[in-house]
Amino acid sequence: MKLLLATNNVNKRIEFQSLLPATITLLSLEDVAIHEELPEHEKTIEGNSLSKAKYASEKAGIPCIAEDTGLEVYALNQEPGVYSARYAGKNATSADNIKLLLQRLDTISDRKARFKTVITYYENGQYEQFEGIIEGRIAEFEKGSNGFGYDSVFIPEGLDKTFAEMNLEQKNEYSHRKRAFVRFLSFYRNKL
Ligand code: IMP
Repeated sequence: MKLLLATNNVNKRIEFQSLLPATITLLSLEDVAIHEELPEHEKTIEGNSLSKAKYASEKAGIPCIAEDTGLEVYALNQEPGVYSARYAGKNATSADNIKLLLQRLDTISDRKARFKTVITYYENGQYEQFEGIIEGRIAEFEKGSNGFGYDSVFIPEGLDKTFAEMNLEQKNEYSHRKRAFVRFLSFYRNKL
């Protein structure tokens, strides 16, 4: 069974593959010769997730999943949210984004935050969306070297270590992406 994963993010691909049953072959955008940037111009995580899945599925002519993720910080009006990847500017690195986030929270004691992932499954003009959320808080400083993005400053609720201090298996126990994926998988299994 082949399923296209619409992401250029190698880390996300590794996470997805680690969650999938071995009977499903995940195709990459490269495998279907999509080399251009996927459209991500919507104002919501749901909108961007859908536009990526629709674009890639229609272009490749096969079912596709895409996901979009945002970090929502309560005291910052859910910022950076849909702008998480370019919080510190268009070409910002994760280090730039984290630096800005820690600066903005410098004088704020409420550091509650959550990661939200929306997975879209798109097939023949129809789609379904699956949400995964993990509540937590933003650490005072970066800790750990695993993972990617904001992992080094996100501490899941009830724990005292960041995602970057966990290996992938441990992160998968809590992660927003895993939670969205489990929901997707129970839907997708019925199609197999
Ligand atoms: P996007 O979904 O690829 O647009 O990701 C939005 C932003 O959130 C990027 O800066 C990612 O690095 C970051 N991000 C997405 N997923 C995770 C995660 O699991 N941990 C930490 N940061 C993440």
